[in-house]
Amino acid sequence: MIFMPETKEKELTESQPSGAQRVPAPCVMVIFGASGDLTERKLVPALYYLSRAGLLPKGFSVIGCAKTPYTSETFRDKMQQAVKKYLDVPSSDYQAVNDFTQDVHYIADDFGNPTAYDQLKSLLDHLDNQRGTGGNRLIYLATPPSFFPVIVGHLGSTGLAQPKQQGETWTRIVIEKPFGRDLTSARELNGIVNGAFKEDQVYRIDHYLGKETVQNLLVFRFGNGIFEPFWNRRYIDHVQIAVAEEIGIENRGAYYEEAGLVRDMIQNHVLSLLSLITMEPPAIFEAGAVRDEKSQVMRAIRAIPLDRPSEFAVRGQYVEGWTEGQKLPAYRAEPKVSPQSTTETYGALKLFVDNWRWADVPFYLRAGKRLPKRISEITVKFRRAPHLLFRGTGTTSIEPNHLSIHIQPDEGMSLMFNAKIPGTTMKIQPVTMNFRYEDAFGAAPQTTAYETLLLDCMLGDPMLFTRADFVDLAWELLTPLLNRWKEDGRKGLSFYEAGTWGPPEADAFIERDGRKWQEL
Ligand code: BG6
Repeated sequence: MIFMPETKEKELTESQPSGAQRVPAPCVMVIFGASGDLTERKLVPALYYLSRAGLLPKGFSVIGCAKTPYTSETFRDKMQQAVKKYLDVPSSDYQAVNDFTQDVHYIADDFGNPTAYDQLKSLLDHLDNQRGTGGNRLIYLATPPSFFPVIVGHLGSTGLAQPKQQGETWTRIVIEKPFGRDLTSARELNGIVNGAFKEDQVYRIDHYLGKETVQNLLVFRFGNGIFEPFWNRRYIDHVQIAVAEEIGIENRGAYYEEAGLVRDMIQNHVLSLLSLITMEPPAIFEAGAVRDEKSQVMRAIRAIPLDRPSEFAVRGQYVEGWTEGQKLPAYRAEPKVSPQSTTETYGALKLFVDNWRWADVPFYLRAGKRLPKRISEITVKFRRAPHLLFRGTGTTSIEPNHLSIHIQPDEGMSLMFNAKIPGTTMKIQPVTMNFRYEDAFGAAPQTTAYETLLLDCMLGDPMLFTRADFVDLAWELLTPLLNRWKEDGRKGLSFYEAGTWGPPEADAFIERDGRKWQEL
């Protein structure tokens, strides 16, 4: 993302005319949790993309840290395998895969062990001398969240959190979600993080914000003159945000039992989408201004009434089901999941944004695991035409218009409106006007979303990262509901067959308001 600087730190990166692609200043990336799933699936493929695009700085080096007893050579092999496994790399590019992993190091140690940080410090100094990495460090926490406080604490106490030379080098930390598990723990974690790092060094990542279609929401809303006039309660009846996943919880039973759908998807990804759809135009296109508006709109979301939670929220869990003739296990039968678990794998919420623009417009959010397909979509449903002019022609109702924003897959947008079917009678049918990335730009976005965010972090651009106040507001909204669900246990938990669109209670939930879920 091209941006205007938020902090002084920016001046430390190479400056180029606005709009030009910039290459970051030399740096080392330190990955805690280097032997884990996230590193293999997302970070390494993203680094490869950046390397292929010539966007990694000269001398760029990676240091992996984890307890798994790898050597630097094994880590290098694993990185190469990950690129080949997760990206469609033709064999003609294998040399590029080898080149990109040329300068890779690994420290096998316990994150709680102070000696690991001594080793890290000397390796970083060594790389600065050998590779000219200039003292700049990007530290990435790709570990389970329970390790965040201990790692941050050690980085602080060993001085590794501080820039090597104040004012001349930078040190930034990327912290994965979930940031805390409720309001109290998120505030505690923030306290620990801010004890070691200044806020402008902290990059809380939500990879949805790196998706092309999500970045495009700002351009769509504020780069076009025709949409803004009807982007409000006068023209919009309601908005739906759906994030459906076909996969189950994969091998993450232990994590998921603690998290559940709302903490895993809604607290971060779905609320980020909601804020981009509802925020006011920022005064300038600059990280601070954009993030101010996102937080501002979060403040306007009405608290969920806990005396009647079922009117505002539905939670479900998948039971055994089928897909394409294949049996899918129940959530409770997944490894490391309790057979009595009441953790939700599906959630639907109705929220209101109490401000002048959105008063009384419901926002229906839903997300779930083991639904029929992977699809993320925002649907803006407009109000019905005020008068049915065509009644006399046998037309008894006309579909209200809607705009669908296809986040993934099949990235694009479509506007549904009504048209006359050609012929001698007045018959009306909904049609769509489509924009597809593939048609307009020759290809759908081929990214993991992480490369944009990693690059932004190296360049010191925090616009697409989540600021502490946003995290706090998101937890403030959801913690009371999560506590209430915990108290209720099995009471109020609905079930759905794996491979279906969620529990019947979720359909009844929206139908009670005279509306329907948009077909995905
Ligand atoms: C992650 C969640 O943040 O997002 C996962 O922890 C989820 O449970 C994933 O599967 C979905 O991301 P995407 O980019 O595949 O929609």
